[in-house]
Amino acid sequence: MAHETNFTDFWQQHYRNDRTPWDLGYPTPVFARLAASGDYPPGQMIVLGAGRGHDARLFARHGFDVLAVDFASEAVATMHLLNDAAHPVQVLQADIFELPMGMNGRFDYILEYTCFCAIDPARRGEYAALAARLLKPGGLYIGLAFPIGRRSGGPPFVVQPDAMIELLSEHGFSIQQREFPHDSVPSRQNIEELIILKR
Ligand SMILES: C[S@@+](CC[C@H](N)C(=O)[O-])C[C@H]1O[C@@H](n2cnc3c(N)ncnc32)[C@H](O)[C@@H]1O
Repeated sequence: MAHETNFTDFWQQHYRNDRTPWDLGYPTPVFARLAASGDYPPGQMIVLGAGRGHDARLFARHGFDVLAVDFASEAVATMHLLNDAAHPVQVLQADIFELPMGMNGRFDYILEYTCFCAIDPARRGEYAALAARLLKPGGLYIGLAFPIGRRSGGPPFVVQPDAMIELLSEHGFSIQQREFPHDSVPSRQNIEELIILKR
């Protein structure tokens, strides 16, 4: 429990000190392309570790019913502040590992961008089980795996997409698509990979 509190504090301190280098300040162009493509019909979406909510608001503007979850109160406050009344995102301050069982099978989509790299690697199995329980059968996990690399330590902890896919496969996911996006922001070209899996 003390361990979890430390993780919460770690992220909270970054927001409090406005030291948030991961935050693009706008939705990633990769998700903007997916949202506009028409290939993903609007439905129930949960955004894990949503931060200031740029990607959550993007999908809400495209008609998705979005629940954005983060445990850092400063990030949550910013999401409330930036919420668009015309296309509101439902904002929840919570630890993703404590999301209620009542949410099981509720979502058509999980959206993930730099939440997987933020959690303790020892909990990645739990994360995969969480993803499996939140999605409806046939639901999609849409993740932009970042940062890909080899260094040790964290957070953020590096991500190996093959290992991430293997872990999710053990929980009933099958790969639909993976690509190094041509439209990643320049500083993330080739060190992030789009991964879409079906439950
Ligand atoms: C690297 S930031 C990414 C934020 C956002 N996805 C973005 O791209 O700007 C990681 C986020 O995950 C949140 N987070 C980490 N572990 C979490 C957990 N167990 N439950 C809820 N939020 C968590 C942190 O508070 C932080 O906002």
